[in-house]
Amino acid sequence: MLLSVPAVLTPDEVASARLLLDAADWVDGRVTAGHQSARAKDNQQVPEDHPAARRVGETILTALQGNLLFLSAALPLRVFPPLFNRYSGGQSFGTHVDNAIRQVPGTPLRIRTDLSATLFFAEPAEYEGGELVVEDVYGLHSVKRPAGHLVLYPASSLHHVRPVTRGARVAAFFWIQSMVRDDGERTLLFDLDSAIQRTFSEAPDHPSAVQLTGVYHNLLRRWADA
Ligand code: NI
Repeated sequence: MLLSVPAVLTPDEVASARLLLDAADWVDGRVTAGHQSARAKDNQQVPEDHPAARRVGETILTALQGNLLFLSAALPLRVFPPLFNRYSGGQSFGTHVDNAIRQVPGTPLRIRTDLSATLFFAEPAEYEGGELVVEDVYGLHSVKRPAGHLVLYPASSLHHVRPVTRGARVAAFFWIQSMVRDDGERTLLFDLDSAIQRTFSEAPDHPSAVQLTGVYHNLLRRWADA
């Protein structure tokens, strides 16, 4: 599933974050790349222990904890502390797949990367190119969203970022270990939850609403690790 989650951050939160990020010390993005992706990767990153990364990362994690669309789609168990990248002057990230397991820096914690997330910090008009392109069985999907919006996609998919030929593309990127490891099962639960929400808002007294909620939780119980 490739999903856009609109307005994860408010315009004020985006503006404050941009002030911090633009003033940060950026380094070569290959520092966090795996063996294969280091060959394809050409961008800049804020070091993961940089105060700006920590601070904006906290803002993102707090916003996600209250975002019902994100929670329903990702069913998060653990979220990797967000990292920040910037592409400019023709930089790009060639086709790659994200590492399956990530160690959370400074902790003994490991995260299995079920979902990849990109949160945009630049408006589309600020730069040319820079689309995130995700491959699945239906073909290529090219994504560029307003600042403050998030894109979620399976970390197992091949993906790339097209060259940025004007301006700069600033974004956060991170991974989610879901309570439901399988993308197909997770997508079914998301579809069912969306239908249940709609039933509750349009026909709240319909007996099927409670029955379908029961089915949702029983599937979750069957498929989830908590
Ligand atoms: Ni990637």
